[in-house]
Order: sequence, then structure tokens, then C-alpha cells
Amino acid sequence: MGDHVTRPDDAAIPTLCWEEPPDGPVLVLLDQTRLPHEEVELVCTDVQALVGAISSLAVRGAPVLGIAGAYGVALAAARGYDVEEAAELLAQARPTAVNLAYGVRRAVAAYRAADPDRAPAVALAEARALHAEDAAASAAMAAHGQRLLAELAPGGGYRLLTHCNTGALVSGGEGTAFGVVLAAHRAGELRRLWVDETRPLLQGSRLTAYEAARAGMPYTLLADNAAGSLFTAGEVDAVLVGADRIAADGSTANKVGTYPLAVLAAYHHVPFVVVAPTTTVDLATPDGAGIEVEQRPAGEVTELARAPLGAQAYNPAFDVTPAELITAIVTENGTVSPVTADGLAAVCAGRKSSTG
Ligand code: MRU
Repeated sequence: MGDHVTRPDDAAIPTLCWEEPPDGPVLVLLDQTRLPHEEVELVCTDVQALVGAISSLAVRGAPVLGIAGAYGVALAAARGYDVEEAAELLAQARPTAVNLAYGVRRAVAAYRAADPDRAPAVALAEARALHAEDAAASAAMAAHGQRLLAELAPGGGYRLLTHCNTGALVSGGEGTAFGVVLAAHRAGELRRLWVDETRPLLQGSRLTAYEAARAGMPYTLLADNAAGSLFTAGEVDAVLVGADRIAADGSTANKVGTYPLAVLAAYHHVPFVVVAPTTTVDLATPDGAGIEVEQRPAGEVTELARAPLGAQAYNPAFDVTPAELITAIVTENGTVSPVTADGLAAVCAGRKSSTG
């Protein structure tokens, strides 16, 4: 892992940024494993450190993983490491979030296509371009998402339920699903954000609650298994979640616990909306069965659950929601509803290729 540094001042630490101190370039991350109680920088001077940060979820969430992967390639190039080897290590650090491999491939393609003496600078420029594109995608998704909410729940005063964490911590901008919630909040249209705690790593209670509190939103935390009674009580107008990989047929892998929410939403006739940039759509994976789901260490479950020593645990990081349970997929290029393969392909047409 990289080195931890506490900022001497109160300045907000960006989710990730490239810096060039005198002893060479570094990628600086806000260590998300320490939030919400500590805001600590994690300084990565090499790809091994960045791979450690990705595996331990110090940096996490699909879009920002793509950006981190691209900067990781630039870091290897700038520091004179083997770029191809670095790219392979980075791309394999987490298997489900398709953005990671996408970002790595984009920076490597730019590096390979450049004159050797300019290649490190070109890889860095590609990482910066991806970072900026993702920020722009966030803003566009927020606008499309707001329009969709107005159609799905006319009258405003939305009560929205979300799972995992999808704000500025996962994005070059203000996020995916959380970006839409934020836009609704700023427009005075958010009555309440219901925040699933998101077991076992608590991205909801640690990170979404942190982002919601900082934005001054009316939010309420719930244990994941309390969602059912919330639907029964008629307290949810729509569910908004992000995605780690969307297959060509619209099946969506997202944080484990998303699929049960989609089933609940369908039963209660509540719209279930996925918000993700087109970089999360993987047209090469035909359907949900083709999505590799990351399995994580049992200890993440057993420690939180205070299980007896030696207990086994089932700990998939993600689950897959079939397209028929998804009301709409909101991308930066528009909203797909109903969710069909043709509709998805249409919003992805013209997006930037990852291979140059
Ligand atoms: O394991 P994580 O914390 O990386 O999982 C993140 C999620 O599942 C998010 O919901 C997803 O990446 C969408 S973020 C825009």
C-alpha cells in the first residue's frame, strides 16, 4: 500500500488527483477505508501501491476505478516501469467493475500509439481526458435523471432509496445515482434519501451518509433488511442505484443487495432506476450470466457479524439484476426505458473506444 498522510490544513481532499512533487509523480487518493471518521490521503508512488489501494477498497466504485486505472498506467510510464505489466496488474485488481479495464486499456492504447519520448505525457493526458469526461458524464446523468424522476414521480417531494455509494467518491464529478439525488436536493425536490447501510463493508452508512450529510440532505440510514417494511409503508417513490457492469441485454451487476431491492421494488410497483455512464456498459458481455462476480474474503462478513472463529462465509461483492426488473437506465447520452439491448446499444453508439 502507499503512504498515509494527514493534511495539515482543513482543505478537502479530492477523491483522487495526480501530483508532481520534486521526487517524482504520485497518485494521491482519499483513503475511503478510513471514512467517515478520518480524512486521510493515501499517496501511491507505484502501481503496486495503487493495486493494493484498489483491492482494499481505499479507492472504489466503478467510474473512479477506471480513472484510477488510467492514472496508474500513466504513473508506471512516468516512473519508467514496465507499462504492459503494470496495465495487466491494474486491470486484474478487481474483476467486475468494467470501467477499471476500460480506463487501463485507454491509457495503454494512447501510450502505445505515441512517440516513445512523448508516451508518458500522452498516457497522462489520456487519464486526464477520461477524468474530465467522467465529470461531464456525471452532470449529464444528473440532468437526465431529474427529468426521469419528474416523469416517474410527478409532484416532486421525492423519497428515494439508494444502496452502496455512488457520489463524488466514485466519480470524476458528483457521481451517478447520488448525482441525480443531489440535483433533486438542490432543486428543493428531495423529501428524503433512504440510505441502505450496505453490508458487509458499509459503503452506505460510512460513505453515502457522509456525502449526504456534507450536502445537507435529509437522509435516514436503514439496515439493509429493513427495506421491505419501508416499501410496505409506501415510503419509497423510487430506487436509484449505480452499476459496476451492465451487460448488452441490460442485466446489471451492482453491489450485493441490489437485486433483492429490485425484486421488492417490482412487487411494490416502485420504479427501479440504474444510473451509470456508458463506460459501465459492456456490450461484449451478452447477458448477466457472463458477468464475473468478485468473491471477497470471508473475514469481511465474519468480523462484522462477530461470528465464531472458523465460520465460513459467502461473500460475493455484487449481484446481478435482470433487465426486466429495471425501469430505466440513465446514461450521459440519455435514458433507456424500457431496458432493451437495442436501446442500450443506441446510447452507447459513438462513445470513445478503449483501444484508440
Ligand atoms: O465494492 P465497491 O464499493 O467498489 O462497489 C461499488 C458499487 O457497487 C457501486 O454501486 C457501483 O460501483 C456504482 S458507483 C457509480
